[in-house]
Amino acid sequence: METLIPTINRLQEVFLTVGAEIIQLPQIVVVGSQSSGKSSVLESLVGRDFLPRGSGIVTRRPLVLQLVNVAPLQERLKIDGGNGIKQNEWGTFLHCKNQIFTDFQEIRKEIEAETDRSSGENKGISPEPIYLKIFSPKVLNLSLVDLPGITKVPVGDQPEDIESQVQEMILSFISNPNSLILAVSPANSDLATSDALKLAREVDPDGRRTLLVISKLDLMDAGTDALEVLLGRVIPVRLGIIGVVNRSQHDINTQKSLEDSMKDEQAFLQRHYPSLASRAGSRYLAKTLSRLLMHHIRDCLPDLKTRVTVLTAQYQARLNSYGQPVEDHSATLLQIVTKFASDYCNTIEGTARYIQTSELCGGARICY
Ligand code: GDP
Ligand code: NA
Ligand code: MG
Repeated sequence: METLIPTINRLQEVFLTVGAEIIQLPQIVVVGSQSSGKSSVLESLVGRDFLPRGSGIVTRRPLVLQLVNVAPLQERLKIDGGNGIKQNEWGTFLHCKNQIFTDFQEIRKEIEAETDRSSGENKGISPEPIYLKIFSPKVLNLSLVDLPGITKVPVGDQPEDIESQVQEMILSFISNPNSLILAVSPANSDLATSDALKLAREVDPDGRRTLLVISKLDLMDAGTDALEVLLGRVIPVRLGIIGVVNRSQHDINTQKSLEDSMKDEQAFLQRHYPSLASRAGSRYLAKTLSRLLMHHIRDCLPDLKTRVTVLTAQYQARLNSYGQPVEDHSATLLQIVTKFASDYCNTIEGTARYIQTSELCGGARICY
């Protein structure tokens, strides 16, 4: 999302200045059956290791992850993370606001500990979200939601109606029209039985805000591949179908880095899906999301432009009503107003141009 960041920061400033509501970027929600790879997909989007992942039910409470871009703030205030060390990236939790986490391993441990605190240690689930904010100069101001997976048979302390409880929880997030649904379905199970797509369809029947992610391309039976699925010939998905290879459990156990994982993913795609390699993988998924976000911003621009124009006219009228003030002052004020108007109109037009150009080259990069 790197190239998008300065543009959005600028725009948010404009919105603030003209008293418009800040652009609400869609919240990205991952949905899928248990262990389909939801947490892994989110992690690769953020570009950091910090989510609990693994086989069985690991994510047992919703995690609302708010990314906060701190580049402008850091520049202005030279924030040092409170301990004299200049911190680049850190996290805080709503449930322990005053604690600053600079170690992403500690963030993962705190998610696990807080999950145990409210849902017990024996696989219980809870609809009560954990709120985590990640502050970084490398992220967009964006919310991502990690959810427990769809599951059928209760285990451990789970209630008899675990399936409907989890479904309710998921629906409460994805029915929000401002949610972009990342439906994650593993390549080694039949897409026609995908719980993720089934739930997404319930709240988004036209598929206007659902993107399908096919995970575990590396785990398919010998002699089979996902080409037909990825080409949309099995089930078409309007916003797209993107195949990915996340880290395996062995990779997690041996602490394979996200960077190495992306390299291997790209090599895998080149080998097995050469015709699709440029339209698959975690990076392409990030790009696609970035493009969808830009479309959203573009849709907000006409309204913003109107507001700037109206406001400029209001300032002009107020200036005129002051009659003949001391010349110096009126000149200064007028300069400010004019500069304000032209700066901001330029920003808006620049952004519109920027969006068009980046669409031509297939969208901007997210996050890395
Ligand atoms: P979630 O339960 O949907 O959040 O899934 P996780 O992200 O926790 O992943 C579940 C398990 O599947 C973990 O052991 C991951 O390492 C593994 N996994 C996820 N995606 C892939 C993939 O694309 N390939 C392989 N080989 N393993 C994966
Ligand atoms: Na899991
Ligand atoms: Mg998970």
